[in-house]
Amino acid sequence: MSAPALTGRGSFLLTNVGELTTNVAVEGDPCGTVLDAAVLVRDGRVAWAGPREEIPDAAARGAGEQIEVVDAGGRAVIPGFVDSHTHLVFGGDRAEEFAARMAGERYAAGGIRTTVAATRAASDDDLRERLRALVAEGRAQGTTTLEIKTGYGLDVGTETRLARLAAEVTDEVTFLGAHVVAPEFAGRADEYVDLVVGAMLDAVAPHARWVDVFCETGAFSPAQSRRVLEAGRAQGLGIRVHGNQLGYGDGAALAVSLGAAAVDHCTFLSDDDVAALAASDTVATLLPGVEFSTRQPYPDARRLLDAGATVALASDCNPGSSFTSSMPLMIALAVREMGMTPAEAVWAATAGGARALRRTDVGVIEPGARADLVLLDAPSRVHLAYRPGVPLVRRVWKDGVES
Ligand code: NIG
Ligand code: FE
Repeated sequence: MSAPALTGRGSFLLTNVGELTTNVAVEGDPCGTVLDAAVLVRDGRVAWAGPREEIPDAAARGAGEQIEVVDAGGRAVIPGFVDSHTHLVFGGDRAEEFAARMAGERYAAGGIRTTVAATRAASDDDLRERLRALVAEGRAQGTTTLEIKTGYGLDVGTETRLARLAAEVTDEVTFLGAHVVAPEFAGRADEYVDLVVGAMLDAVAPHARWVDVFCETGAFSPAQSRRVLEAGRAQGLGIRVHGNQLGYGDGAALAVSLGAAAVDHCTFLSDDDVAALAASDTVATLLPGVEFSTRQPYPDARRLLDAGATVALASDCNPGSSFTSSMPLMIALAVREMGMTPAEAVWAATAGGARALRRTDVGVIEPGARADLVLLDAPSRVHLAYRPGVPLVRRVWKDGVES
């Protein structure tokens, strides 16, 4: 009969890990790979990670304590995915718009208003139910940290509702009142921006950590975008930007000039944009689910990486341009279509996302980090790209607790 586990919830020894991705960089290996490894988890945090033969005996079995042992069976373990860009609070869907696009229509920013109408009409309970289902869907695919944006309310009351609902499931809430101009303000974009930087920001900021703007033709101009971002910053919010999605433009340059944590999409970048990103702390977040679902050309990750920029991968899960919560799919697309190696793509979906959220407690498996771990049904992380569409996520722990 096996001895009962005496340690509490959130404490265990994960051992017989065939390949451990720690993301603690060592010479020539940013993924900090350890073969035949183990991870000791105590009270929801990583206490130790390293080669199995070096498991600290005292730490694993201190003071007569017995700890639950989980045998990984030689499989690979990676940090939980950090999905640093999603729009998970919305009503309705846009399957018909997707079908029309696949029949030849172009994607345009205006489709957002369809979701705004459905979101305004939805009850809190409906929105919450959908939100929680999407969070669970992502978790089952290995996502343990999520950023969630508002942006389908576009009036003070609904934007505040969306921020409150998002804050129920994550600390990483982003105010995106400047997603598109609200329908009531058609042709009066500057007046809408007055509302966004005034009453709307006042109401939403207490629930948010970040401010974002869609800086793009058909959404907000660079001058309007700067106003929104500076107003958010003045209220203590960090800056992120949607930019360079549908064409060349000023989003990336604006993000870098304001010290944004990230500029997201980055599909159309000039040489100057790439150089500016490489010289900055602003992460270039690539969202290949969008290119997949809108039939646009994929961003060139290789060009950004070779220039020295920090690259993150995120799902952009939303009902219009990318209705998928699957980070493994992002990895597969980034490797197949964007010039990333499997190791670079896994790093970008974990440590890269953490950088984009300016977090040091996630995206990494080292002492003190949150015990957010994914056990793959595969011997190595390469399989995430090598076996696209296959459910390879076998077990997921967040803060040391299995989902
Ligand atoms: O990130 N680019 C702006 N916003 C979303 C699209 C939202 C929608 O189409 O509903 C995006 O792709
Ligand atoms: Fe987005």
